[in-house]
Amino acid sequence: MSTVILGIETSCDDTGVSIVVDGHLIKSNVIASQTSIHNQHGGIVPELASRQHIRDIMPVIDLSLKESEMDMTDIDIISATYGPGLAGSLITGLNAAKTISMCLSKPFYGVNHLEGHVYSAWLDQATGPDKQIGFPIVALIASGGHTDLVLMKDHGIYELLGHTLDDAAGECFDKAARILGLGFPGGPEIQKTAGEHLSDFHLPRAWLPGTSNFSFSGLKTAVLKLAIDQNVYPEDSSKLDKKSRDNLIIEISAAFQESVVDVLSSKVIKAASDHRAKGIIIGGGVAANLPLRERINQLSPIPTYIPVPRLCTDNGAMIAAAAYYQQLRQEPWDLKLDINPGLKIYDIVH
Ligand code: KG4
Ligand code: ZN
Repeated sequence: MSTVILGIETSCDDTGVSIVVDGHLIKSNVIASQTSIHNQHGGIVPELASRQHIRDIMPVIDLSLKESEMDMTDIDIISATYGPGLAGSLITGLNAAKTISMCLSKPFYGVNHLEGHVYSAWLDQATGPDKQIGFPIVALIASGGHTDLVLMKDHGIYELLGHTLDDAAGECFDKAARILGLGFPGGPEIQKTAGEHLSDFHLPRAWLPGTSNFSFSGLKTAVLKLAIDQNVYPEDSSKLDKKSRDNLIIEISAAFQESVVDVLSSKVIKAASDHRAKGIIIGGGVAANLPLRERINQLSPIPTYIPVPRLCTDNGAMIAAAAYYQQLRQEPWDLKLDINPGLKIYDIVH
């Protein structure tokens, strides 16, 4: 008998609701993006995000059911992200899930958003529910708020190997894009602008030798300094004509992206070798970055499991996938569960 799970994700600025069968088969995956709202402000405004989730949550649940051609009675389990993330955003998805669970007497599972990013690697239309991913696995979670490197020893068992000491990789993409006058979110904008270009500029890498930690604040400062030196920032048409400015933005974007890709890929490969991992997973919005995906695939001597780009960014399907593997080994969660905005991946206790 198959298990149908409703996954709700509202930790940041996307309202995501998905229906997933047996932890891998996506029946629907609806995402109401708030990009156009936050774009005008150059970053996420928490108050606007929480208000928009309240408007979007019920229509997105309805649409997800409609697309899957199911109704609530077909759902076996309700799951939602309870942290980490923005408090006002988390509350909406978690309360919606708990309410549905209570009204329909269906089991409820709370999911750590970071664990969801890891489980997006199990989502696959083609392969079976028990995709042969051997443990231990090294997983990189690189998003707008986190850059964590973990050793996943089995389903739900994580050891933190390293994390960012300052900015997250995605946050750094967003800040660099802002300096260069590109849109929000910065990751896709920088990737599009850099294209296949090999830059003449070289930006620094914080290797932090002997650790699996990361640091991106120096890179952010270096981008700012380079943009100022090259008269790209602040924008001033009396100092730089449009064509030269556009060319410099390509050069700086490519140098920036190469620095992030170099550090993330090298550190993931080294950690996998140090810990004799059987595979590598990358997840989180930054894992949608094509040069990063290509580099890790190129360098890795072991199998890599990298979700398609649209499953790297926030979505409800990854929450349902994580809940599926939870319900195989533990009882449903108490509906008293509250949000935990500062939740860490190693806080998962099963
Ligand atoms: O996982 P996610 O959707 O939300 C969080 O949990 O934070 O990640 C969003 C982050 C943003 O910082 C965005 O700029 C970055 O992921 N991102 C990318 C790409 N697509 C999204 N960074 C680099 N290259 C991309 N293609
Ligand atoms: Zn995320």
